[in-house]
Amino acid sequence: MIQSHPRISKAVIPAAGLGTRFLPATKATPKEMLPVVDKPAIQYVVEEAVAAGLDDVLMVTGRNKRPLEDHFDRNYELESALEKKGDADRLAKVQESSDLATIHYVRQGDPRGLGHAVLCAAPHVGDEPFAVLLGDDLIDPRDPLLRRMIEVQEQHGGSVVALMEVAPEQIHLYGSAAVETTEDSDVVRVSGLVEKPEAADAPSNYAIIGRYVLDPAVFGVLRQTEPGRGGEIQLTDALQQLAADEKIGGPVHGVVFKGRRYDTGDRGDYLRAIVRLACEREDLGPEFRTWLRRYVTEEMQER
Ligand code: G1P
Repeated sequence: MIQSHPRISKAVIPAAGLGTRFLPATKATPKEMLPVVDKPAIQYVVEEAVAAGLDDVLMVTGRNKRPLEDHFDRNYELESALEKKGDADRLAKVQESSDLATIHYVRQGDPRGLGHAVLCAAPHVGDEPFAVLLGDDLIDPRDPLLRRMIEVQEQHGGSVVALMEVAPEQIHLYGSAAVETTEDSDVVRVSGLVEKPEAADAPSNYAIIGRYVLDPAVFGVLRQTEPGRGGEIQLTDALQQLAADEKIGGPVHGVVFKGRRYDTGDRGDYLRAIVRLACEREDLGPEFRTWLRRYVTEEMQER
């Protein structure tokens, strides 16, 4: 009998972080709600999941995250005000986020790390492969990474991580993967993983960027995973277990991403992401680029 793979339909988005790097903005506002141009960062991530065919989204949230639920819910008051005004464009913008996907929420309670956040998704996900998207990484919709990862998972089974080559001095910010080539130039076999190693100890310059397609066996492993780096339960450590013993949940592969990725995790990167995205927007871009060019040539020379 031919075994048919269940279609991957669930996306898990961990969103319980405190966002301390953005204080005071994140004192009362979740960092996921910070606008990237004119859309909250989290909306780009949900849109990416939906574009990859994942229409069941679980957000793992924590305290102070109510604005997230409100953002993806209807806002009748605002909608009727815009309707009365006949402002169809803005009405569409308001409705966009609530029409995107079915969104579920679970609370993490204790913030015990990314691995623990993913474990909180176990009852919702059940026994099927699923995707994890981290909100600090925005992937340009023109470079569909997640769809390719799902394809690779369907081909090989097991789990798939997104990898990107970074400069050696950057690798300590990421999970780093030991890899072997495969017959597909954009796919590698992952033989080991280390969470945020020093450059000298890194198995390679392949960094995990925040996209994963995981075999549900990861839940069993996470339950046994001791706190690792930073005293937190690390998803990377659980994936290392899977990579080391294929019998647990199949192989681990990596899709090497060469497309456009915007990091919104720290303030400098966040500013760069906004400038890059604003420059590329059809509506804002032309005027903004003209201003930016002038600003760089004239104003910056005076400093
Ligand atoms: C997490 C993961 C790390 C990964 C990174 C990607 O770290 O633990 O392995 O490389 O996301 O953004 P964080 O940035 O949440 O500390």
